[in-house]
Amino acid sequence: MLHRAFAILLAVNAASAATAVDDAAAIFTRQCLPCHDARGSAPLRLDSVERIARNRTLARMLIEDATMPPSIALPDANGLLVDRRLSMADRATLLNALSSSAFVNRAFAGITSGAPADSTEPTFAPPHGWTLPAAGGARVRTFIAATINPNPNPNTATRVRGVRFADLGAREQRPIQMAFLAADPRGILRRLEEADDGAEDGAENGGFEAMGNVGPVPSGALGAVSRVRPSFELPDGFCFEIPVGFIAIETLCEPIGRRTRVLPQLAWIPAREGDTRVVKAIAMPAKALRLSANSCSTIEIVHPVAVDMDVVAVLVKGGAFLRSVDVEIEVELKVSDAGKAGAALRTRLLGVPDYRMAFAEPWIFTRPQRVAAGATIVARLGFDNTADNPQQPSSPPQDVESGLPPLSEDAMVVVLYAPARNSR
Ligand code: HEC
Repeated sequence: MLHRAFAILLAVNAASAATAVDDAAAIFTRQCLPCHDARGSAPLRLDSVERIARNRTLARMLIEDATMPPSIALPDANGLLVDRRLSMADRATLLNALSSSAFVNRAFAGITSGAPADSTEPTFAPPHGWTLPAAGGARVRTFIAATINPNPNPNTATRVRGVRFADLGAREQRPIQMAFLAADPRGILRRLEEADDGAEDGAENGGFEAMGNVGPVPSGALGAVSRVRPSFELPDGFCFEIPVGFIAIETLCEPIGRRTRVLPQLAWIPAREGDTRVVKAIAMPAKALRLSANSCSTIEIVHPVAVDMDVVAVLVKGGAFLRSVDVEIEVELKVSDAGKAGAALRTRLLGVPDYRMAFAEPWIFTRPQRVAAGATIVARLGFDNTADNPQQPSSPPQDVESGLPPLSEDAMVVVLYAPARNSR
């Protein structure tokens, strides 16, 4: 009797072990491969059992400390489209499958790169690449590309749902951490680019070293793509309007240890029939930043809301010193309790407790967030200019002022919204 029970127990264990092995490959294919296959946006390929075996210890560590899969925004925010976290069970299954070479060989024997998705969407790219130095911290470079007609249907000719990297496998895109887009219909930035002739020792000199903001329109007004989110799509019903002319593409690039050619290649995602609400941008820049060496500071940027609106996405731009971001909607309470004048109701739009350039992405809401006229959007940016900041470029830390990375800092929150239908 006892023997039989034991045998059944063993059988059950063997069965669950077998499904665990199958599961690990399925979980890996779903949660890791999209970024780590041959065409994925991550720098390291994990699309064969040999590659997984070689990186198994590092992969295990990064899963354990929740660095992978990446997701640095708080997942409890309402309708935020970034929750890539593993369930406890999936995490345990993956950690177990990665715990020895023998387990890896069993679990991931069938892993292969997915077939590249053939795209028919029209692509665009700047005419000239740029040579990124081998080292020296993150750099901002703005490129200009001619507008292309994103949609052959004349009714939606100028409307797009979003944008994506056209060829993820392209080596020219590997150093690009994030690319922010803005329309430059009058070609202002294109003329700036032409005037920039600081060619270095035969290096390619396309684009120019500046932020891609066009007048008061921030780069990012037409969306953004990043290594962790190579495709940006607005929620159903919303679209960007692309004027004829030029597109400014502001890229944040990270050196990869040798001189590399950088050239963003992008494709519009055409709007569908019902995508008619045109999205605009609110720029909330950090002005006159001064970050003293060996100190932390928080700055607050406020924007009073004039019309009822639906917020569809929040973009954050920052360099090595930006470490946390909180964006809240504040509504002042009209009838305040005695002694509580000025009390406000706060709703969090976005919380990024551990901002890291390498994992930054545009944050899109699955359910657009309604903000009423009279409310205030408040962004709090936390900076760390101490030696404890793992992204600190200077040793010892130096005073930092507004300007371009790597040694200066510029930060901006861009809120993408459409006026509410009922607002006049
Ligand atoms: C949304 C995209 C994305 C997903 C999903 C993802 N990764 Fe990554 N991964 C990245 C990026 C981007 C980097 C590079 C980060 C950097 O440059 O610092 C990276 C880095 C890594 C590295 C370290 C490479 C190095 O040399 O430091 C490992 C290992 C890794 N990922 C494993 C995994 C595993 C395992 C999973 C699934 C549980 C996963 N990743 C899911 C984007 C992703």
